[in-house]
Amino acid sequence: TDLAKIRNFSIVAHIDHGKSTLADRLIQETGTVEDRDMKAQLLDSMDIERERGITIKANTVRIDYKADDGETYVLNLIDTPGHVDFAYEVSRSMRAVEGSLLVVDSTQGVEAQTLANVYHAMEADHEIVPVLNKIDLPASDCDRVAEQIEDVIGIEATGAIQVSAKTGQGIHETLEAIVNELPAPKGTRDAPLKAMLVDSWYDAYLGVIVLVRIMDGVLKKGERIKMLSNGSTHHVDRIGVFRPAMAVIDELGPGEIGFLTASIKQVRDTRVGDTITHEKKGTDDALPGFKPAQPVVFCGLFPVDSSEFEDLRDAIDKLALNDASFSFEMETSAALGFGFRCGFLGLLHLEVIRDRVEREYDIELITTAPSVVYHIYMRDETMIELHNPADMPDLTHVDHLEEPRIKATILVPDEYLGDVLKLCQDRRGIQLDLTYAGSRAMAVYDLPLNEVVFDFYDRLKSVTKGYASFDYQLTGYQTDNLVKMSVLVNDEPVDALSMMVHRDRAEARGRAMVEKLKDLIPRHMFKIPIQAAIGGKVIARETLSAMRKDVTAKCYGGDATRKKKLLEKQKKGKKKMRQFGKVDIPQEAFISALKMD
Ligand code: GTP
Repeated sequence: TDLAKIRNFSIVAHIDHGKSTLADRLIQETGTVEDRDMKAQLLDSMDIERERGITIKANTVRIDYKADDGETYVLNLIDTPGHVDFAYEVSRSMRAVEGSLLVVDSTQGVEAQTLANVYHAMEADHEIVPVLNKIDLPASDCDRVAEQIEDVIGIEATGAIQVSAKTGQGIHETLEAIVNELPAPKGTRDAPLKAMLVDSWYDAYLGVIVLVRIMDGVLKKGERIKMLSNGSTHHVDRIGVFRPAMAVIDELGPGEIGFLTASIKQVRDTRVGDTITHEKKGTDDALPGFKPAQPVVFCGLFPVDSSEFEDLRDAIDKLALNDASFSFEMETSAALGFGFRCGFLGLLHLEVIRDRVEREYDIELITTAPSVVYHIYMRDETMIELHNPADMPDLTHVDHLEEPRIKATILVPDEYLGDVLKLCQDRRGIQLDLTYAGSRAMAVYDLPLNEVVFDFYDRLKSVTKGYASFDYQLTGYQTDNLVKMSVLVNDEPVDALSMMVHRDRAEARGRAMVEKLKDLIPRHMFKIPIQAAIGGKVIARETLSAMRKDVTAKCYGGDATRKKKLLEKQKKGKKKMRQFGKVDIPQEAFISALKMD
């Protein structure tokens, strides 16, 4: 295709502002899909994505559009993941296109993810076209939202296109803006092949599918290609585009976006951001900024029923085949038995994987406290990455510890600001900025990631009645006074409950933890001390008193069925318990005990 007739773009938006609905409309308006085939949210393929309304894998679609100037254009839309956990994928896919539609819900305004995503677009030097969506709703206020876009983001928005992705109003104007306001891609046809690996995923029939953007040169079926990151070579057996169904074509030229298959077995063998070239006469010049995604949040996944360990292994193996950013290794815990220590890009990623194991593989899981990756500097000047508080080395060998910090952006209506500031303060936050746009405040905080991985997001939602939006990026590591807090039940350490805490907060955290456990652990025939300790020093203690009488004692012998029922109920309850030493700890205890406040 003639470069001048190509437009490559993405849509950036806060969650629920209508990105998928707008994409569906653009596809429908251009007749890319017959109306009767049109399913809502065409671009979200996995059920779980649809249910959560989150687009996880970047998808793409090629649209032919006959513009008002009489020419036919090829529009390539890349659907970017909307959440911070996938920030690296967002920033890569942004580099594969030249422009963005900035979709803002005109009944809501700019939110935290609007900002985070538009910054990625700006970093990629995009031409940005603002689109105000949901104008069919009575609460729509385009003037206010346009002004807010100008104030907060700093791009011209007075002439923003007004759209209803629901009714189709403004869709034609949007297509014209894509053609007239976004630049055509650049690239040289007779240069050596240089293509960006934008995304990859596993398909049961075709194996790994690789989404590519051709920067220079031409890629044809049957050619041999090479990945610059590791030198691996492959035979290209198929080339095509998404309309949005797969359509096989002969070649992809500069500026084009499409897919290839090359008998690649695992998604792990492909790296987002890598440069693909020809095996012979290729380029050595890699695209800048390539880095593999690093897991930042770790937690243990254990089967509730320990006989399901092999099933869990199988499930995790399968999920990992299709997700290069998810890491795992076997872990044994005295309390929980055999399981896996898993690494994720963030909390959402963790939740998605956990949900998929539970739902698609029907395995009930115990999830241990999420932990960030600490850097432990030893006295012998080596550095250890700590993924699991249970592996904390002996303190006498440790020189100091560093923890990851984030820059968090929170947008919230004025009336809740006080509570938000308090929450950030309570979590060791340092305020970096506080500004207002209309009746909304934007607070920017430097926060330790470890304070955010527990239940920060839940707390934020609850203190703001769901009105706050939140986004963050990792900024780096910083030394702080961190210690490992262990929990002992009946004098035995429960490794799954140990956690890293700031020294100044240890007593309060320890106290809250033992009090909670006292309520969560059922009484036994003997009394049970519950303690929190740092090193050998107990910092908080509760005692769960012994059960006074047998539960069935109330039944006065006569009522046998009632007695039986009671015992059955007890037995059932027991299934969800973990025997620990002589003590049964219910499954919820592991989760509830780790939530604060
Ligand atoms: P994610 O893909 O989950 O990030 O969300 P999204 O930004 O793609 O939002 P989505 O397209 O799923 O839309 C969110 C909700 O808003 C859905 O219930 C849509 O039906 C609705 N919606 C989208 N556009 C419009 C619109 O123009 N008018 C009205 N009334 N509702 C809309």
